[in-house]
Amino acid sequence: MDIKKLTAKEKLRLVCGKDFWHTEDFGGKIPQITVADGPVGLRVVKARVADGTETAYPAIPYPSVQLLANTWNRNCAREMGAALADDCLEKGVDILLAPGVNIKRTPLCGRNFEYFSEDPLLAGEMAKAYICGLQENGAGACLKHFCCNNLEYDRLHQSSDVDERTLREIYYLPFEIACEAKPVSVMCSYNRINGTYGAEYKKGFTVLREEFGFGGAVFSDWSAVRDRTASLKAGLDIEMPFCEENYQKLCRDYEDGKIAEAELDACAERVLTLISRCKTMREGKKSCCSEAERRRIAQDIAAEGMVLLKNDGVLPLAAGVRLAVAGCYAQPSDMGMLRGAGAAAVNREGETFDVPDCLTKRGYSVAFEPAFSYDGVDSFHQDARRAVQLAAGSDVSILCVGLGEKFERESADRETLRLPLVQERAILASAAVAPTVVVVFAGAAVDMSAWADKVSAILFAGYPGAGGDEALASILSGENNPCGRLSESFPFSLADCPASQEEGVSVGVTRYREGLDVGYRHYFTHHIPVLFAFGHGLSYASFVYRNFTAEAEEDGVSILLDVCNTSDRAGKEVVEVYVRECAPVVYRPDRELKAFDKVFVEDGGSRQVAFRLGRRAFAHWSAAEDGWRVSDGVYEILIGASSEDIRLIRKVRVEDGNFSLMPL
Ligand code: BGC
Repeated sequence: MDIKKLTAKEKLRLVCGKDFWHTEDFGGKIPQITVADGPVGLRVVKARVADGTETAYPAIPYPSVQLLANTWNRNCAREMGAALADDCLEKGVDILLAPGVNIKRTPLCGRNFEYFSEDPLLAGEMAKAYICGLQENGAGACLKHFCCNNLEYDRLHQSSDVDERTLREIYYLPFEIACEAKPVSVMCSYNRINGTYGAEYKKGFTVLREEFGFGGAVFSDWSAVRDRTASLKAGLDIEMPFCEENYQKLCRDYEDGKIAEAELDACAERVLTLISRCKTMREGKKSCCSEAERRRIAQDIAAEGMVLLKNDGVLPLAAGVRLAVAGCYAQPSDMGMLRGAGAAAVNREGETFDVPDCLTKRGYSVAFEPAFSYDGVDSFHQDARRAVQLAAGSDVSILCVGLGEKFERESADRETLRLPLVQERAILASAAVAPTVVVVFAGAAVDMSAWADKVSAILFAGYPGAGGDEALASILSGENNPCGRLSESFPFSLADCPASQEEGVSVGVTRYREGLDVGYRHYFTHHIPVLFAFGHGLSYASFVYRNFTAEAEEDGVSILLDVCNTSDRAGKEVVEVYVRECAPVVYRPDRELKAFDKVFVEDGGSRQVAFRLGRRAFAHWSAAEDGWRVSDGVYEILIGASSEDIRLIRKVRVEDGNFSLMPL
């Protein structure tokens, strides 16, 4: 499509979108692109009412992105992307407005369930695989929200004040890594970055294009544009949705000579390229999985992402034990209990979720009591006392607790990390009368300090999608071996989180005063114990690492090790590689994730795992040199089963930029 065939008026219209979900097509003169949310299932809007409330068509719900991240398995992300691409093909959607890679700077952020991690490498790698899955199967991705949209509080106005090094090492990095998958588009954020609106963040867009190799188009977040002329000049290609007022002003500015032809052409050209790229990507593509297969993918990812946080041996459940199952989350009448709200909400009409039934099918005798709903008791059909009485008469009590759309939602943050009081009390009362397994349905970290040491087992179940009840029952019964790992730290309390300690903040500014110390980087460096560490997760199998060898190379280090399964159960193990610089010349967090892999190992078997740590794995962003720099010095390579369970260490020296291994 030749830009010369478009008039100036048409170009101005093209960079403003057509309506809520389409690009302009000038009555069929050029093809049109349809976009739709979102990261955990398709949200094709059916109707929108005046107050902005939207209803969407029902769609397959996939696990929350946070649960996906807990798999630490790139194949899961790729498969979820591929399944979503099929959904897009069937519904005529060209671009899925996903994935979101914003860093979980604070566990309170209302949208954490739709983001991957507190760690930029994990977030970037999983997003990259998700984008590949989507785009290889015919749907474009829209990587969002660029950037520093880490809280929903006052998101349309507040400025995230962040220094350049922190931007590079923490907040830009997931975008940088995800850009390797060549997403067709990026979405800007609502907030300001160091005072400049996300829609006008020229410096950031330039980094994306010139340094991260991003060759697609930049969308605005929905209604994030205050000044279309300023955003166009900054390199924001399409404003969404169409806004008459902004468009008219843009036309006036153009007529007044405030916009150079080249500036308009640059954006319009990128929109045209986007349209043809999406259409080519789609050409000849048919859904590769049936709906049943996609549902199976959702279920398998849920089973792989659920994290066994604690287990005194009560799990897997012995055959035939008498179970008391309590909590509305086990059999929700309102499916909103199993999802967050906002753009990432999926209409689950027609979906069922029935944990008691899934356990009964597996041969257990199950007594169920809904007990409570969200933060209270909604009807006479819910009786928390009866739940405790049932627990007292059981061999094992399973309490299904959690959050849901009432607490986790776009445009609002959580106020506490604690579960609602009624749920905490039910856990404590149950634990006093029976071995208790707590299953937590939530999209972010939960403060479990009031009860974690009183219960026998804790399983973090995220927000599973289709088949999540089966996935859960398969783990409880031992049919599936748990292999999820936390993609975020679970602190003892909110007070321990650095981002919750803002003093003297002005009303519209969030100062990222903790700098690089986000998540586990903070807890380790400052010796703050956490309830469950980043990367933690138990298995029914046990693994040891053997035959560790490392080799220094011209521009990095390569590593080999064997993961040996010393149990009689097959299972998957995640190997995590961290790097720390000993006595650095600039401040560096105690350890940083630089590589990871997940492997399946047969019972009694072993698997070799290989990693390559390039120069960048040792580098920091030098504010003095405005670039990545590997300082001469000594580094430790830490290999572990979690950020706190380090099994192997090897020291490396860098001298005049050359790598050598230090003697053992
Ligand atoms: C959200 C985006 C979403 C868009 C379209 C915005 O409110 O921030 O993530 O893609 O709406 O629904």
